[in-house]
Amino acid sequence: MMDREFDIILWGATGATGRRAAHHLARRCGEHGLRLAIGGRNRDKLETVRGNLPGAGNELAILVGDSHDAAFMGAMTARARVVVSTVGPFALYGSELVAACVANGTHYCDLTAEPQWMRAMIDAHQQTARETGARIVHACGHDSIPSDLGVQFLQDEAMARYGRPCKRVTTRVTRMKGGFSGGTAASFLNAMRLRETDPDFGRLSADPYALCPEGERQGPDGPDRMMPVEVTWDADLQAWTKPYFMGPMNSKVVRRTNAIMDYPYGRDFSYQETALTRGGIGGWWAAMRYAIFGRMLLIAMAIPASRGLLQRHVLPKSGEGPSKEVRESGSYEIVQVGEMPDGTVLKARITGQGDPGVRSTTLMLTEAALCLAEDESRIVVAGGFWTPAAAMGRLLRDRVTEHAGLSFELIANHEA
Ligand SMILES: NC(=O)c1ccc[n+]([C@@H]2O[C@H](COP(=O)([O-])OP(=O)(O)OC[C@H]3O[C@@H](n4cnc5c(N)ncnc54)[C@H](OP(=O)(O)O)[C@@H]3O)[C@@H](O)[C@H]2O)c1
Repeated sequence: MMDREFDIILWGATGATGRRAAHHLARRCGEHGLRLAIGGRNRDKLETVRGNLPGAGNELAILVGDSHDAAFMGAMTARARVVVSTVGPFALYGSELVAACVANGTHYCDLTAEPQWMRAMIDAHQQTARETGARIVHACGHDSIPSDLGVQFLQDEAMARYGRPCKRVTTRVTRMKGGFSGGTAASFLNAMRLRETDPDFGRLSADPYALCPEGERQGPDGPDRMMPVEVTWDADLQAWTKPYFMGPMNSKVVRRTNAIMDYPYGRDFSYQETALTRGGIGGWWAAMRYAIFGRMLLIAMAIPASRGLLQRHVLPKSGEGPSKEVRESGSYEIVQVGEMPDGTVLKARITGQGDPGVRSTTLMLTEAALCLAEDESRIVVAGGFWTPAAAMGRLLRDRVTEHAGLSFELIANHEA
């Protein structure tokens, strides 16, 4: 186990998610005697954050620098065993930090939900990360921990009961209560800008296997589509489905988990993630209304003039996010249905307490960082770019169940 000045550095402790992550990390690191430091670009803001931290948090070291300062990133990442980042959009501010963690063999996790940036980071640094031993784990927030760990949980249950995995899994978001922060809005706006300027962006977004290694980008799933005006009937759950904004991103992560773990779910594994309304004509109409609204929002985001209006007058700004009341009263639920080739069906329910966009996300990110630090010798994968399920799997599932308000439960099991 490497010995460094800090066990964990939280980079970006002043943002909407960073402030909450700082709070959770200060509490949890205090309980476990881990050495935490917080960092960002503004000393005054960092001192205010530090002053509000619980326990001995107000004695933490503060590191001040800029995300684009590669020399600073190199020096900072050499001082810690793990760096956890909330500085996004990651495609704009995250690349120097990942490069520095990889070069210094420092483990890393973040909140990105930007597949095109993840692809670029894997392509640029996978080989070096293997050599230095840095475990790099993107997507450690609501995107994509519940989906990724949920599928792994369902498949573990299938293996334990029947000795083989489900060939097809569908994830349905059945409840989602909460808000989203300025950084999430900025990441979305940046993605819409990239659509116009980067010729590869559309191709990569549509490719369901875009995050899989080269030579492993084929399988049974059709293109990932962002907010199609499409509602379908889910016969397993007897309700209408509607598109889900984060479905394409989470699906890519789940498929990457399968590919980089050498196909524990099978080479013909098929995955889909949407949201769900209810049955009957009322359910159909609710799903259709949502699908049309989602498409209109996407069109408004794609047109520079309306995008600017939304940015100025509607969407939260950097540092802003849902109120304490919304964060604490929020919750979510997903139901996953797995099917075996002989028709046997397993269903699992994954729930989360706290709004998915900030509270639940930062609790999960905190546990991912603690897992990389505290379970370093129990994690079996070597250096490289991993997904949450591939890198930390059961270790992280136990942590988020115990400390981040998630639950994983098998709710049905019908043999063919
Ligand atoms: N995966 C998920 O489920 C999920 C959920 C929520 C958020 N997110 C993602 O998390 C990221 C953060 O969201 P947020 O709402 O917390 O964003 P935010 O409020 O805008 O915070 C951004 C942070 O980055 C810092 N920063 C910006 N530019 C910097 C630079 N050049 N050098 C150093 N620090 C810099 C800001 O510092 P200042 O305070 O000094 O400006 C702030 O600490 C976004 O990418 C968002 O998409 C993901």
